Amino acid sequence: VLAIWNQLTKTEIPELAKCSVLMRERGRVEETIHSMQRAGAGSLQVISDFDMTLTRFAHNGRRVPTTHNILINRLLISEDCTQKLKVLLNTYYPIEIDPSRSVEEKLPLMVEWWTKVHELLIQQRIRKDLLAQAVNESGTMLRDGYKSFFDRLAEQQIPLLIFSAGVGDVLEEVIRQNQVFHPNVNIISNYMDFDPTGALQAFKGLLIHTFNKREGALSHAAGLKNLQGRPNVLLLGDSLGDLTMADGVSEHQNILTIGFLNDQVEERKESYINSFDIVLVKDETLDVPNAILSYIT
Ligand code: TMP
Ligand code: MG
Repeated sequence: VLAIWNQLTKTEIPELAKCSVLMRERGRVEETIHSMQRAGAGSLQVISDFDMTLTRFAHNGRRVPTTHNILINRLLISEDCTQKLKVLLNTYYPIEIDPSRSVEEKLPLMVEWWTKVHELLIQQRIRKDLLAQAVNESGTMLRDGYKSFFDRLAEQQIPLLIFSAGVGDVLEEVIRQNQVFHPNVNIISNYMDFDPTGALQAFKGLLIHTFNKREGALSHAAGLKNLQGRPNVLLLGDSLGDLTMADGVSEHQNILTIGFLNDQVEERKESYINSFDIVLVKDETLDVPNAILSYIT
């Protein structure tokens, strides 16, 4: 049976045969994809991380900014604040991706990072009416193939939940400017709270960082009624913390997880292969998710 499935995938989803695609159990992945295909588009939902998952990690050798880093623009923040944010990034990002530290060890440090960054941003009283221009000037880029990814899901009315520890207002502006903010898109993220003059005064709700997406998922589950009755989940992420984004889905049948391994490839390969069903190594495209979606739907 396995041989037949391998054959099927080779002909139906040749993208899975690329050498940048790693799988712990290829047979089980194929079985899951077939089972999702039999259930069809009406049973499917997609849950995706944003920064470095839907957006590119790098382009022409330069890092593509995350939603937080898009705010590093003199329109919005001072030179002094820029320096402070960069110091924080250089301190905490290596901790976030450090394979030798446990999640328990990273958790309080991530809270520290996000809290410090948000305090700095609030001090700058960032203006809501300048966010669109900052996004436009930022050089942010969605992964190649984003248009067919978003458009196909919208056409088939498959809900797409974007679950981001980034900044929701910036994220929305990125997908709006790329013309893919379709009605099937729901977003869970850190949203800015502006005062009546349009200046940032706080962040709303529960703080979401890389390693507490489970809490965010559970607290929003009840509000996302359109996701009920869709037991098959395609999950996309670039961090091991992203694996808990589907924890709010109560009665799931099949979950297929795809992990983008962008950085520290050799150090993290083993843990990614052990944690995600499919690992995409230094792949700046959405070709594999698109091929799977086109087979399933
Ligand atoms: P994500 O959940 O959409 O991937 O967003 C979280 C990413 O944002 C995480 O990988 C770290 C990154 N980040 C920055 O680039 N700058 C910051 O100041 C903070 C707090 C996070
Ligand atoms: Mg990410």
